Amino acid sequence: MRTLLQTPLARVTGVVRRVTGAPSPLQGRTVLITGASSGIGEATAYAVAERGAHVLLVARRPEELARVAATITEAGGKVSTYPCDLTDLDAIDDLVAEVLAAHGAVDHLVNNAGRSIRRSLRLSYDRFHDFERTMAINYFGPVRLTMGLLPTMRERGFGHVVNIVTWGNQIKAPKFAAYIASKQALDTFARIAGRETYGDNVLFTNIRVSLVQTPMVAPTEAYAGRGHTPARAAETIVKALEERPITVNTLAGSAAEVLNLVAPRLSDLLFHLADRSLPDSSAAKRG
Ligand SMILES: NC(=O)c1ccc[n+]([C@@H]2O[C@H](COP(=O)([O-])OP(=O)(O)OC[C@H]3O[C@@H](n4cnc5c(N)ncnc54)[C@H](OP(=O)(O)O)[C@@H]3O)[C@@H](O)[C@H]2O)c1
Repeated sequence: MRTLLQTPLARVTGVVRRVTGAPSPLQGRTVLITGASSGIGEATAYAVAERGAHVLLVARRPEELARVAATITEAGGKVSTYPCDLTDLDAIDDLVAEVLAAHGAVDHLVNNAGRSIRRSLRLSYDRFHDFERTMAINYFGPVRLTMGLLPTMRERGFGHVVNIVTWGNQIKAPKFAAYIASKQALDTFARIAGRETYGDNVLFTNIRVSLVQTPMVAPTEAYAGRGHTPARAAETIVKALEERPITVNTLAGSAAEVLNLVAPRLSDLLFHLADRSLPDSSAAKRG
């Protein structure tokens, strides 16, 4: 019953908190954010540290993690860095052991590190590695990390896993077959895992993020000047960390999902026409 009511109650207390200026429930919690060296993950690290959480930053580039950590420390926040390649499953196991030894447990895990590929199938016939590398970082990495941290969360009776997925999960946008399939796999993993961990007060949230201006989308000319800022995306993620909903959707994503349910062939036609009018980027053609 507590779990059933927790998101509506968190929404009400969130409104009260914003009106009264009371502290965030993230204060004093331990929040591990992957992909914290850039873009959405970096902005989320700042926003979460500002709420008084101890932020654990994970990504491959140690110098970039050190830069983000220095900014947090200068602002009076609490931060630790853990350089790790999340496509290396043994390295993830070592990361889990190190983090649990140092902090006992992680309250919130944000699986944000990822890689997007926008490339037509006609340019992908001899590029099976596109499908392998998106699965490696967008699915196997986060699942391995989640499985490492889950037992402690369940034993303690509190935990939260936030997956940064994409509105493409609902839209099913052409040219993104490799990327969206890997994000959809993580989305589905979380929905099922959340049903098993429900009684332990360990919840999962899938945030189906729309376009955000980060280094990831920079090679796609069609996206120039469009989308949200990383700081705006970070505020959505903080709200989800505070309220622990099942999913966070966009209106456009949900509209596309409904159209796909009620008129799937019409939906295919419209997306086919859109696909033809939006060519592959120069980067996708170069390979
Ligand atoms: N930007 C968008 O429009 C958009 C839309 C929907 C969803 N998303 C999702 O949002 C998340 C963040 O993306 P972003 O837009 O902020 O892109 P970004 O600025 O390129 O950040 C990607 C992050 O992932 C880390 N990363 C990549 N490969 C890694 C690996 N093998 N091991 C560890 N860390 C790795 C990178 O750090 P290192 O290079 O230091 O390892 C970096 O911190 C991704 O999951 C993306 O799919 C983005």
